[in-house]
Amino acid sequence: DVRGLVDTFGRVATDLRVSLTDRCNLRCTYCMPADGLPALARDKVMTRAEIARLMGIAVRDLGVRQVRFTGGEPLLRRDLTEIVADVAALDPRPEISLTTNAVGLDSRAQALRDAGLDRVNVSLDTLDPDTFARLARRPFLERTLAGIEAAARVFDLVKINAVLVRGVNLDHAADLLSWCLERGFELRFIEQMPLDADHAWDRTAMVTAAEVRELLGERFTLKPDAEPRDGAPAERFVVRSHNTGERLGRVGIIASVTEPFCGDCRRTRLTAEGGIRDCLFAHTETDLLRPLREGAPDDVVADLWRTAMWGKRAGHGMDDASFVQPERTMSAIGG
Ligand code: GTP
Ligand code: 5AD
Ligand code: SF4
Repeated sequence: DVRGLVDTFGRVATDLRVSLTDRCNLRCTYCMPADGLPALARDKVMTRAEIARLMGIAVRDLGVRQVRFTGGEPLLRRDLTEIVADVAALDPRPEISLTTNAVGLDSRAQALRDAGLDRVNVSLDTLDPDTFARLARRPFLERTLAGIEAAARVFDLVKINAVLVRGVNLDHAADLLSWCLERGFELRFIEQMPLDADHAWDRTAMVTAAEVRELLGERFTLKPDAEPRDGAPAERFVVRSHNTGERLGRVGIIASVTEPFCGDCRRTRLTAEGGIRDCLFAHTETDLLRPLREGAPDDVVADLWRTAMWGKRAGHGMDDASFVQPERTMSAIGG
């Protein structure tokens, strides 16, 4: 029987985000240092079998209903398709999604779909090759777009994630939205959070949700979506043409900093090393991999996971004077 992941504020974590690797083939300024980070030793990273075992525990014993694979860049795992298939074979079968930069997705999208992947979210901050290279520090726009194209052919729903950085891609926001609307992608603008390697995040420089709404309002009419938000990070808006009133699609804004949604948080996170993080901004982790490797039975691992959630704080605390940025960068948490 299921005893869920309940924290001391009564929130129940039914969404699991699993980082499959700390490595990435991009070096986005808001996420990783220019020179990268020392990669985890191979034997520290969860194997396919270990991931399958933990997913089984999460789904059967802990009531997890959605599994999202992240990284680093999850496509850098050559066994990603097999991992997806393992999770798709679980009973009850969770919804399975992927957050990726889409580099190399073109050749793998169909196999991932066949293995049971339900949907993908792709990071794309700009359509301008020079700006892309500046933000991601790699000239891979073409490869990303090829991946997105393949995803659009194969999956029913493609979401695009964009982090806006002042002086870099802010002016491209409305064009990016047009591009996504034309293709039926759901674009989400994300407020930058202090999870960069360089600790250069500056609240006063950050592009806020209010600013994004105002900027988009110059070209489109935005109305809050009627569908319930349901604990999702993104607040969604229906987008219409200023001139004709024609419905063009939807856009989301993820206002983690200025309009936090921690009160409805349903997420628990597993790092590539098999540690439970109860929050993006957690300072401690509960290692599950070691007990697993030492032979702990499922119910013991499940209990460790439940207990790990008891330390989850009410919110990220970014506004508190005592706020300290976590040691891990976004690349090692996976968003
Ligand atoms: P769906 O809406 O179900 O498609 O997924 P998602 O938006 O939760 O997943 P995705 O990986 O695309 O995340 C988009 C962004 O939301 C991330 O890059 C984060 O910036 C933000 N985000 C996701 N989860 C959290 C969270 O628990 N806390 C905060 N503050 N931000 C989050
Ligand atoms: N703040 C907010 N979002 C971030 N991402 C990476 N770093 C940050 C940050 N500092 C986003 C990426 C990607 C997702 C996994 O996390 O854009 O879509
Ligand atoms: Fe960029 Fe994602 Fe890689 Fe970070 S993990 S550098 S956001 S692609």
